[in-house]
Amino acid sequence: MENLDTLKRIAAEAAVAHVRDGMVVGLGTGSTARYVVLALGERVKAGLKIKGVPTSRGTAELARKSGIPLVETEDSWAIDVDIDGADQVDPQLNLIKGGGGALLKEKIVATAARQVIIVVDHTKLVPALGNSFPLPVEVVPFGWGSTARQIDELGMKPVLRERNGEIFRTEAGHYILDLHIGRIENPAELETRLNLIPGVVETGLFVGRTDILMVGTPQGVEVRQAKR
Ligand code: A5P
Repeated sequence: MENLDTLKRIAAEAAVAHVRDGMVVGLGTGSTARYVVLALGERVKAGLKIKGVPTSRGTAELARKSGIPLVETEDSWAIDVDIDGADQVDPQLNLIKGGGGALLKEKIVATAARQVIIVVDHTKLVPALGNSFPLPVEVVPFGWGSTARQIDELGMKPVLRERNGEIFRTEAGHYILDLHIGRIENPAELETRLNLIPGVVETGLFVGRTDILMVGTPQGVEVRQAKR
């Protein structure tokens, strides 16, 4: 079981086992969340009755193809469980997300959910957030250079995300600044500091939002509950 895709898939399938008839399920974004949607689709084909709230256009399309009905309204969701991936997970189950650029919708859906299950392979576990993975911060295009300077003055190195020579646009039409920073000693404080800068829409720090972590490891799926 060394193949990372296999580890993502077994963790995703373990998370999907938590879903029950009648639930509204937040559907994350990324290569791990893709396995969640595929596994849910299989259960729907077998008779499970659920509705999904997708966190990106890509996830919405895959969910439709997989036969998962989607919640059509955007007013006052009652999401029972949100299942999503992450780029880094620390020992307190705080996360960095946003490698795929869907962080704003992901945070809105996670916040609206009664329970959040995060699914990763073991390579995402880190002793502290930061260092090896730049922190994505979603910013308004208007004046983004000035917003970047404010961040730079805090001692972080913001890099405007590009794809194929073009500025990357998020699901919501914003830009992403990837912050190259060292070890994040206090993720909650950093999240607040960044959110106070005008132009910052949201950060990829997900602090205290994980209820259950499912980790795909070569020995099987390890389950961790958040200590609160
Ligand atoms: C999408 O914006 C991200 O938050 C993803 O959930 C995260 O990047 C994990 O993606 P993978 O499962 O592809 O590693």
